[in-house]
Amino acid sequence: MRITFIGHAGLFIETRHGSILTDPWFNTAYFASWFPFPSNEGIDRAKIANPDYLFVSHLHHDHFDPEFLREHVSKETTVLLPDYPLDLLERGLRDVGFTKFLRTKNGVPVTVDGLRLMISAAVAPTDGPLGDSGLSVDDGEVRIFNQNDSRPVDLDMLADFGDYDAHFLQFSGAIWYPMVYLYPEKMMDALGRKKRENQMARALRFVKEIGATHIIPSAGPPCFLDDDLYGFNDFDDDPKNIFPDQTVFLEFMRSQGHESGHLMIPGSVGTLTKEGYTVEHPMPDEQVQAIFSDKRSYLDAYQARKRDEIAATKASWPRGQVDILAELRDWFEPLMDKADLTAAGINSLVVLDCGETKLVLDFHTRKVYPWQGEEYDYFFRFDPALIESLIVRHVEDWINELFLSCRFQAERKGAYNEYVYNFFKCLSMERLQYAEGYYAEKAPVQTLWESNGYRIQRRCPHLKADLTRFAHIEDGVLTCTLHGWQFELETGRCLTSDDRHLYTQKIDSSGAVAAARSDGAALTAPLEQPTTGASIRDRCYDCWYDPKKFKGRTQKAEATEE
Ligand code: FES
Repeated sequence: MRITFIGHAGLFIETRHGSILTDPWFNTAYFASWFPFPSNEGIDRAKIANPDYLFVSHLHHDHFDPEFLREHVSKETTVLLPDYPLDLLERGLRDVGFTKFLRTKNGVPVTVDGLRLMISAAVAPTDGPLGDSGLSVDDGEVRIFNQNDSRPVDLDMLADFGDYDAHFLQFSGAIWYPMVYLYPEKMMDALGRKKRENQMARALRFVKEIGATHIIPSAGPPCFLDDDLYGFNDFDDDPKNIFPDQTVFLEFMRSQGHESGHLMIPGSVGTLTKEGYTVEHPMPDEQVQAIFSDKRSYLDAYQARKRDEIAATKASWPRGQVDILAELRDWFEPLMDKADLTAAGINSLVVLDCGETKLVLDFHTRKVYPWQGEEYDYFFRFDPALIESLIVRHVEDWINELFLSCRFQAERKGAYNEYVYNFFKCLSMERLQYAEGYYAEKAPVQTLWESNGYRIQRRCPHLKADLTRFAHIEDGVLTCTLHGWQFELETGRCLTSDDRHLYTQKIDSSGAVAAARSDGAALTAPLEQPTTGASIRDRCYDCWYDPKKFKGRTQKAEATEE
């Protein structure tokens, strides 16, 4: 197997059974904040333009580069699609012209023309932009795992694929924390140190768990070339900086007894056999080392090449063209109104300071209004031009644009609250209902509601819409109005798809619940807390999601900025 490193998480994998292009990223991302490091300007794009397969792990723009894909990759390529409940990635890829898709099932190997592949998909609201994934490849001779920045939970599933010869993974920071927070200097230093240590220790845990023979650090760090952000680069191996480079991680691995790491830069070609892994760089070794040992000179030159592009991008941002308060009120209030669990999770005020416009997202009243000094738990200060740009383009995931740009300042009272950030990545009803449904399924009690003589599961079996809000019932058929799926109340049978079932129980005229459920199983109360549709919000607060207890509760241990 021959693997050309094309920068960041990008690989061009050539096997005896075909080639795979993964996560090609060339154009600056996140409001011209992130650039690939080291630079991949020298990659011959024509050489990677006709892969047999394309794998885009997720929608973050340092992995999904629509401009590059549209202009440079053959649309004859078959896209390997992760098993995500929402088809946002497929839509993004169709938008840039791809039409051939190989749909995979999470953790289920598929063999195509002699190549065995498996995609492990993580689908919690906290996983990337509502989905992140890794790719396992077996060409019959060697096996690799391209984890990139995903955080697989089911390691047994990965092990079942077979022993790995090489493992590509992220080890460096890819977030705004702690730099954007208005912390005192000492605290900022301590948090930066902890974050840098934690992320490398986490990567090493994956290295040990996967147990591959060869380890290649990848998927970061990015570099920051705008003057406003230039100081975020880790110029001198600073223990407080969250963006250590590949050489730092390789040294860390060695200090922990792992000699199996390999440095690859854009253009490096690795040849993987059962006997070993040899890497050929596109330049003499001294020049490769100089990129890291004299990073300031390297980045100064890179910055000079990109200065005009950054200036042009910044000049293109709209200014003073949008009524931010009115637009965000119209956009956010209907979402907040239907975000019971998100609102309970935040249970506070979030202030957005956009220059002259300062506004509150009030998750108690579910209203958006001008800020007049009210107490808050979260405070964000943004350049209003960025908010205008998001509004004009109706960007439904602000994490994948604004927050990852690191172009903001923040304050928070108390611990990290994942619901705040998940709200900002779920700025459409479809996304929001998915997150709400995910939280509901993780809650200690599944809820039912009552309507038309039935107790009915509250979350739609399709993509988890809250049926107390989105159901329309007529002639014994429930229609979920979010995407139009229909279910027969008597049997729970789905009339739209044959593999989903709606849980229902008939209530007789005396109010007793029928002995049988729509799925034919015996009743298993007290699993459910029946409520009536009309008062479901109050009843739910009363019975299980007391906001005081629920607030800020994280769904999984990894879901922190730290
Ligand atoms: S969530 Fe899609 S039809 Fe209900």
